[in-house]
Amino acid sequence: MLNNFEFMLPTTVRCGRGIHREVGKELAARGKKRVLLVTDKGLAAAGIVDKITAALAENGYPEVDIFDEVEPNPRDTTVHRGYARAREKGTDALVAVGGGSSMDTAKAIGVLLANGGVIKDYEGLGKVSIEIPTLIALPTTVGTGSEVTFWAVIKDTKENYKMSVGSPLIAPKLALLDPDLLDTLPPAIIAATGMDALTHAIEGYTATVAGPVTDACGLYAIEMIAKNLLPAVYAGDPDAKENMLVASMIAGICFGNSDIGGCHCVSEALGSLYDTPHGIANAVMLPYIMEYNRLANTAKFARVAAALSVRAENMSEWEAARAAVECVKRLNEDLAIPKLREIGVKTEDLDELAMRSATNVSVDSNTRKVGKEEFLAMFRKAMED
Ligand SMILES: [Fe+2]
Repeated sequence: MLNNFEFMLPTTVRCGRGIHREVGKELAARGKKRVLLVTDKGLAAAGIVDKITAALAENGYPEVDIFDEVEPNPRDTTVHRGYARAREKGTDALVAVGGGSSMDTAKAIGVLLANGGVIKDYEGLGKVSIEIPTLIALPTTVGTGSEVTFWAVIKDTKENYKMSVGSPLIAPKLALLDPDLLDTLPPAIIAATGMDALTHAIEGYTATVAGPVTDACGLYAIEMIAKNLLPAVYAGDPDAKENMLVASMIAGICFGNSDIGGCHCVSEALGSLYDTPHGIANAVMLPYIMEYNRLANTAKFARVAAALSVRAENMSEWEAARAAVECVKRLNEDLAIPKLREIGVKTEDLDELAMRSATNVSVDSNTRKVGKEEFLAMFRKAMED
């Protein structure tokens, strides 16, 4: 059957300027007593954490426990420290403020609060049996989509790879999308996280497991990102930043219900080996994966080109699919995304990177069948460019 599919969105989304002030009201309405705010030190320094604690204090939460030890590519050891803190404080609600790292860490702390054990016990899809405590997510970047997904990606520090924990029971109850929280977001982070969102939309839309609802979300997100990413980065346009926040959420709904593909297999390998920021790792490799994938589904890549506004009327599907790849390559150049050899990748590691990419949980969702040899060829090509 062409249209056999399942679609799920366990998260309520509210968007608006200043909506972060509602966080206390939302928790009080759910009868929550003890809040753990999960974030990183950069946001504390930027004054964003103060904004959230002030909003909580206004609505009956004068004392909030803050766990601000989240790092990029968050580690299992960090999750376990956050869990120890939450247990000690009697946490019954989590508020995640930040990018994907903070939100994924909060989800993982929630898994342990509800189910006990260590986070590795829950690796894979559907291993969580008890729903996490109420989690409210406030994204402060424009890429992750984690506020609406039921996945957490956490680094296994013993075996040094990124594991995925997936279950509808770990999804945030509420996502508060507030463009006011983006005011201090540096242009380079908008560029990198925006490219992560574009990767989610393109991979989610072209994945082998895509369905009609994820197709709709993916194409619309690509269109929004194509229109808004450059003005958000280079003009600091507040409307463009707001649209990027929404596009990133819609891209999250797309890949959360479809899947990611080869580009995330590669970016998670880069993240585990070199701690490369996730958005950069995706952006660097996206044109190479698209170039490899376009031949397996020219019809869909032609629609990607249309959503990117680079499909001319007289173009065949084949030509349009090529134009989509070229467009993403040029976008990387305009956003000053570094090349693979500029982010510390060593030639002697390429084999290991290809092996890790090929064993990623999402490899079978990639548009075109891909394995270690194909990943290795893409890495080699990217190192030469
Ligand atoms: Fe991502």
